[in-house]
Formats: sequence, structure tokens, C-alpha cells
Amino acid sequence: MIEFNNLNKETPYKLLKKKYDVAVDAGQKNIEAISISSFNKEINEVDSRYVNLKFISNDEFIFFSNYDSPKASAFNSHDQIAALLYWPSINVQIRMRAKIKKTSNEYNQKYFFNRSKEKNALAISSNQSKKIDSYSEVIENFNRSLESNDLKKCPEYWGGYSFIPYYFEFWEGHESRLNKREVFEKINGVWKQSFLQP
Ligand SMILES: Cc1cc2nc3c(=O)[nH]c(=O)nc-3n(C[C@H](O)[C@H](O)[C@H](O)COP(=O)(O)O)c2cc1C
Repeated sequence: MIEFNNLNKETPYKLLKKKYDVAVDAGQKNIEAISISSFNKEINEVDSRYVNLKFISNDEFIFFSNYDSPKASAFNSHDQIAALLYWPSINVQIRMRAKIKKTSNEYNQKYFFNRSKEKNALAISSNQSKKIDSYSEVIENFNRSLESNDLKKCPEYWGGYSFIPYYFEFWEGHESRLNKREVFEKINGVWKQSFLQP
């Protein structure tokens, strides 16, 4: 699930929440799974991965990850991302573009403090996306972390990312491919609404 806090009252946010509620009612699983695409300027590569969208706080979308991971290197080299939600239970896709930044250390510490010790042990013990000799080594590292680390203290290499979209496209699948595509682009601080052909 996504936690909504003091949700922004502008039209695209209201529309997103409306679709979200319908998808929840339709029993949508993994509703918080969001694809984040990035570009790493240093190596000239585009990549995508799913993360769990934890919060939409006013206009900020927030997820958590490892600050030494490949995605973190990409965000450091180029702070523009594309984000994508698809809820098959209602056949709705939401495309977004945004600039991304880290959340504050204070925010990370507070969030980490309230997570389960298992999740924190894994976050501490994993050099995310680095090669390792075997899966059993992953489990050993996790167990060692569970026994020996301070599981309430967020390490500096882990925390949140926040992005505020400047572009939304809501895509609804309809009969005969008469799909509805509604776009909101923020231009000079004002949302401009338009429709796209399917
Ligand atoms: C549904 C789903 C949710 C995920 N959520 C997260 C997440 O919240 N944070 C995270 O770091 N990785 C998450 N992952 C794993 C990422 O997809 C990815 O494997 C990992 O972050 C490493 O990505 P990178 O090598 O591009 O940095 C999730 C994977 C799936 C399939």
C-alpha cells in the first residue's frame, strides 16, 4: 500500500488518488510497485527497476534504497527520472517524469528506527547490486548483521529518495483500443491539461 500524507490538492494528485482507491477496491496486489527509469551519464546507460513507493507526502513521491547502488550512481550523474505505475485490475497506467533527490538524514533515521529488525539487518548487510560468490553468503551476512549490528541506526549508505513529478500521463484502457490518455504538464508553475491520441 502507499501511504498518503496531506495530499496535494492539484488535479493530477486528486486523479491519482481516485484511481488508487478504485484499484484498491478492485483488489490490486503490489499496488505500491513503481518502476523507476534512470540515465547514468558516466556510462551512457539507461536502466529501470521496480521499487516500493512508500509515501506520497503532499506532492513528493518517496521510496527507500541503497545510496551506493547503481541507481544511486545514476541519480547522482543525472537527476531526471521516469516513473511508471501499472494497475492491471483497472487497466490504468500512470507515467511520470521528475527530478529526484535524497531525503534528509533526519527523515531516514526516523523511518529506519520504526522498521522491523529483519528489514534493517538486510539493509545494513547488503552491498546492493555488488557481485557475491553465493546466495549462502548473502544469508550469512544477514544473520551476522541481525546478531551484531545496531538495528535502529540507519547507515549513511541507506535512505529515501523523493521526486516531485512535473509531468503525468494517465492512460486508461478501453474497448476497441479507444484508450483515454490525459496529460498534465507543469509549465511555469501551472498544470496544463491535454489529451493524447491512443
Ligand atoms: C516489486 C519490487 C519492489 C522493490 N522495492 C525495492 C525498494 O523499495 N528499494 C530497493 O532498493 N529495491 C527494491 N526492489 C529491488 C530493485 O528492483 C532492484 O533490484 C535493486 O534496488 C537494485 O537496483 P539497482 O541495481 O538499479 O540499484 C524491488 C523489486 C521489486 C520487484
